[in-house]
Amino acid sequence: MSAIINDIEIIKTKTTKINEVDFDNLTFGKVFSDHMLECDFKDGAWQTPKVVPYHAISLDPSAKIFHYGQSVFEGMKAYKDANEDVWLFRPLENFKRLNISSKRLAIPELPENYFMEGLKALLEVDKDWIPKKEGSSLYIRPFIFASGNGFHASPADAYKFIICTAPSGSYFSGKVKVLIEETYSRSANGGVGYAKAGGNYAGQFYPTQLAVEKGYQQVIWTDDTNHEYIEEAGAMNIFVRINDTLVTGPTSDRILDGITRKSIIDIAKAEGIPVEVRKISVKEVVEAAKNGSLKEMFGAGTAAVISPISGFGYKDTDYELPELTDTYADKLKKIITDIQTNKSEDPFGWRYKL
Ligand SMILES: Cc1ncc(COP(=O)(O)O)c(C=O)c1O
Repeated sequence: MSAIINDIEIIKTKTTKINEVDFDNLTFGKVFSDHMLECDFKDGAWQTPKVVPYHAISLDPSAKIFHYGQSVFEGMKAYKDANEDVWLFRPLENFKRLNISSKRLAIPELPENYFMEGLKALLEVDKDWIPKKEGSSLYIRPFIFASGNGFHASPADAYKFIICTAPSGSYFSGKVKVLIEETYSRSANGGVGYAKAGGNYAGQFYPTQLAVEKGYQQVIWTDDTNHEYIEEAGAMNIFVRINDTLVTGPTSDRILDGITRKSIIDIAKAEGIPVEVRKISVKEVVEAAKNGSLKEMFGAGTAAVISPISGFGYKDTDYELPELTDTYADKLKKIITDIQTNKSEDPFGWRYKL
């Protein structure tokens, strides 16, 4: 779906904050660039997006976002190469997923050019905010929420689509120890697990806090029926390596169709790594850990790219993974980040030049 877009209005800030930012010591998602894209849905249509100075938003207390949680978002990154060219990674996949999420939450879908032209206009204005340092990037957060008001539990009649960006350092914080969840679920059949809906994350926080209190950093979500199959790792898809085969679960109603996940599957296949997309039972993972065939586990997602797992807890027992020198995690991370940052050829055609 595309729509006629009038010229995007650009209102630049008079007071840049860029000189206050230490680009050598960036954390993740804490400092925000000077501008944001703002686009309203009202009177039954998306209005022309505008690039405006980053600002706080005023909302009616009865705005439906506060009561009924109609909100969806995306996460993507822009990279600057040595020639100062700017690259995105499969941005149309984010656009399509945003609309898939919106549809599930009865939010009006966005025309493709509003997303792409709006994003390009924003990045052009805030180009200087895209870090050049190895491992750093501009994290991009497109989101849509119900700004229309009223206590009636029904979809809002007004929405805001915003993109704001945050120059960010590497998300990597070392290997993580995870807990395989036996009680709580992040998603269910027929639910919203496949959507990037704000409420999915709110529902994860409490079980994750409990896991953190027990000494783990993250939860491995299992199916909601019997907690028999491993499904996702926090805000990442999960991969396990059994002997030399890389295995990841199939996407479903309950699992986010991760862009990193599908890229890793394609890269691994191109590298000749045996890949299986199938259900992975907790029993299989525990047995593989016991008999030594479980070589690696890692999460995959835009923020951390690949996050290796050092071990997992299940039913009050901890299982350690071996310390390998030649890991699939390292190899695949290098290949995908080299493609993203224009350091290598892109045989898949995923890179998108701004
Ligand atoms: C629940 C969940 N699963 C998986 C992912 C990974 O998706 P992607 O690779 O598109 O970032 C994310 C992050 O976006 C997520 O929030």
